[in-house]
Amino acid sequence: MSPDIPTYAPSDEHEMLRATVRELAEAKIAPYAAQVDEESRFPQEALDALVQNDLHAVHIPEAYGGAGADALATVIVIEEVARVCASSSLIPAVNKLGTVPVLLAGSEELKKKYLTPVARGEAMFSYALSEPEAGSDAASMKTRAVRDGDHWVLNGTKMWITNAGVSQYYTVMAVTDPSAGARGISAFVVEKDDEGVSFGAKERKLGIKGSPTRQVILDNVRIPADRIIGAEGTGFKTALTTLDHTRITIAAQAIGIAQGALDFALGYVKERKQFGKAIAEFQGVQFMLADMAMRLEGARQLTYHAAIKSERAMNGESVPDLTFVSSACKCLASDVAMDITTDAVQLLGGYGYTREFPVERMMRDAKITQIYEGTNQIQRMVMARQLLK
Ligand code: CAA
Repeated sequence: MSPDIPTYAPSDEHEMLRATVRELAEAKIAPYAAQVDEESRFPQEALDALVQNDLHAVHIPEAYGGAGADALATVIVIEEVARVCASSSLIPAVNKLGTVPVLLAGSEELKKKYLTPVARGEAMFSYALSEPEAGSDAASMKTRAVRDGDHWVLNGTKMWITNAGVSQYYTVMAVTDPSAGARGISAFVVEKDDEGVSFGAKERKLGIKGSPTRQVILDNVRIPADRIIGAEGTGFKTALTTLDHTRITIAAQAIGIAQGALDFALGYVKERKQFGKAIAEFQGVQFMLADMAMRLEGARQLTYHAAIKSERAMNGESVPDLTFVSSACKCLASDVAMDITTDAVQLLGGYGYTREFPVERMMRDAKITQIYEGTNQIQRMVMARQLLK
């Protein structure tokens, strides 16, 4: 390719990675997706397959033993896993969410200590921001961290924590100065085995049933002072900067789920015969398929565009519109995924409404992408604030 032509599209390497992940996902993850959903059990087969192929946390830099994949490659991995199993796609996605605060703001010692085991596939890393009374208004959190000599002592309850209980490490945001509002929040690494850490019951959810969502309860958890991520009082900024990078991975999950539903519906409409012909021959069905694919491709391109901006920002470049494009792609892709999966159920008719076919699971799984890492109402608020700034 001529060096003068800007490289906007995924490279050949990105497409090779997509082919590899697709093959692996179809062979090793898809066969268990329905069972994982039905039994609400963790997709251990997916974790094993991803770890064996070094695809469980591809974003971790080579310096810490990771694959050092760029943000677009990470998006492609999550997208391809989500295409067959949304619950399993939360393994690479949440490993990124939990570790980005350490990557962005952690000390070198913290990075070495905590990123290396994640890169090796020995530990997973979750992110603990929300609380029972602090969801969209994340800064109103109550979890406290109090300094005591060479330690911090944490007390509080974090809620909706993805992969809680299976992750070894947690980035926990806690109030260190109650008089300072958002500037009085700090971020810490908490380990599952720290004394005083326990987990609530598994939430009984509509979708992503294979990924445990639980409270993380902190009862006088005493951790060494050097487990703070960045300077005291910078935790909320770190938490939001992290979301600027990781809302893009939720968009990736959404487009993957939507692609899975579209692919299934495309196969079905060619086979299903009514009125003496395949239903794919009806223009009403064709227009639905065209709209689904058109909107999906639009969402995908915005997500890839955002991923490239995320990569540039991670490499120290100033990217003033990262917050906007990150919220925009998450919001667009998740709304599009909800519509596409609902239309896929419609195209399968009564069959689509049953558990004999995967599209009803995909529709249930798509719903969460409009909710977590900030509801789509919050995304619109974030975008509007950027526009009016
Ligand atoms: N990057 C860095 N800093 C940012 C920022 C950004 N994108 N946006 C705001 N900030 C800074 C502000 O500059 C401000 O700092 P200063 O006072 O030093 O200037 C500070 O953060 C507070 O900003 P605001 O006053 O704008 O904060 P707010 O309380 O009004 O609202 C919000 C912020 C955007 C609504 C935020 O609370 C938010 O995003 N809420 C949604 C929460 C969310 O996404 N939760 C997801 C949980 S994680 C999850 O779901 C994961 C999972 O398990 C899969």
